[in-house]
Amino acid sequence: MSTTPPLARVDAWAPEAGTERVRAAFTERFGTDGPAPGVWSAPGRVNLIGEHTDYNGGLCLPIALPHRTYVALRARQDDVVRLASAQEPGSGGVELRLADVAPGTVDGWAAYVVGVAWGLAGQGHRVRGFDAVVDSCVPYGAGLSSSAALESAVAVALDATFGLGLAGPVDAPDDAGRTVLAAACVRAENDIAGAPTGGMDQAASLRARAGHALLLDCLDASVRHVPFDLEAQGLALLVVDTRAAHALVDGQYAARRATCEAAAASLGVATLREIAPDDLDTALDRLAATSEADVAEVAVRRVRHVVTEIARVEAVVALLDADRVRDIGPLLDASHTSLRDDYEVSCVELDVAVEAARSAGALGARMTGGGFGGSAIALVEASDVEPVAAAVAWAFVAHGFTPPAFLVATAAASAH
Ligand code: GLA
Repeated sequence: MSTTPPLARVDAWAPEAGTERVRAAFTERFGTDGPAPGVWSAPGRVNLIGEHTDYNGGLCLPIALPHRTYVALRARQDDVVRLASAQEPGSGGVELRLADVAPGTVDGWAAYVVGVAWGLAGQGHRVRGFDAVVDSCVPYGAGLSSSAALESAVAVALDATFGLGLAGPVDAPDDAGRTVLAAACVRAENDIAGAPTGGMDQAASLRARAGHALLLDCLDASVRHVPFDLEAQGLALLVVDTRAAHALVDGQYAARRATCEAAAASLGVATLREIAPDDLDTALDRLAATSEADVAEVAVRRVRHVVTEIARVEAVVALLDADRVRDIGPLLDASHTSLRDDYEVSCVELDVAVEAARSAGALGARMTGGGFGGSAIALVEASDVEPVAAAVAWAFVAHGFTPPAFLVATAAASAH
């Protein structure tokens, strides 16, 4: 093969450019009368490792992306919310009253916006209506948490606009306050948007730090910022958006979560986090003995993924702490195998991307995020970004898949 297929790169907007875009879109929608809106933004994320562990009280290790969602927002005196998206230029947007927001009442992307106001109100915070326009360079539907980026941008916007005092100043973020904002975002996603997700994405978007991975302990929502600067090591994290359909609102994610919760109940533990790796075999034997063979067979594999994945997060963090980032590759590979075979959330496009990246020299590769489509990550030598991306693009051509898109992820700043 002599020529390389064109590589679609998804670049992040410079913050000034994102701010200008969303301000201009606000003016276009709402005119120049009245006070100028404020502008806030929040990042998407990629998870390095620790997949489908968050709702099991486990550990995960995301970084915030340089790709952000921007919101221009201005308070109103009543409880009306008027929303528009720069990505839907033809549509008149959405208008509703906050008092009418409840589970099952709002469809589409607006649910992630008004759901946050609803979540904050449920925590006892006083939030009024607002006019807002959103714009984003976080790839949509790519498993890179465009929804959490939207929720988190709105959360810091409402925090500042209504004086809730939770996010803290940009140079001294208030982590405890941001944990409260993240909880409101999770309520928005679970109860108003109807996606039973676990909270990793909102924590990454609101609580991560530039140059660091966020070690999130989902048992108590505590975090540790683990230095993660691949560039300084001559490495890069290549993200492959497979462009295969990805939807968490469908039943597969909920089914995985329900199986884990049922397994924990049958093992007599509050969450699967309580099962130590050394006790895994005993726990799996007990699980196998408690239900019908086919149900037990599935539960055993799901639990094995969760318990081994949490251990892999610990192993990766230990290597990062020891400044041995090149050695995390095999753990990324093992995570993918476990997600593919035991947890069954990969898909053929993700498997092809991971295999092609490894064959072209990636130190390790895995699917990232919820799965069933979305993105894969590959840890590569900085000089190998182009050849690895080309190898993945060629593999997609050979399989007749939609061409993938690529971005290089660096650990960026949280919402502000
Ligand atoms: C999605 C969810 C997260 C997490 C991941 C899998 O991204 O939003 O809460 O469960 O899947 O790790």
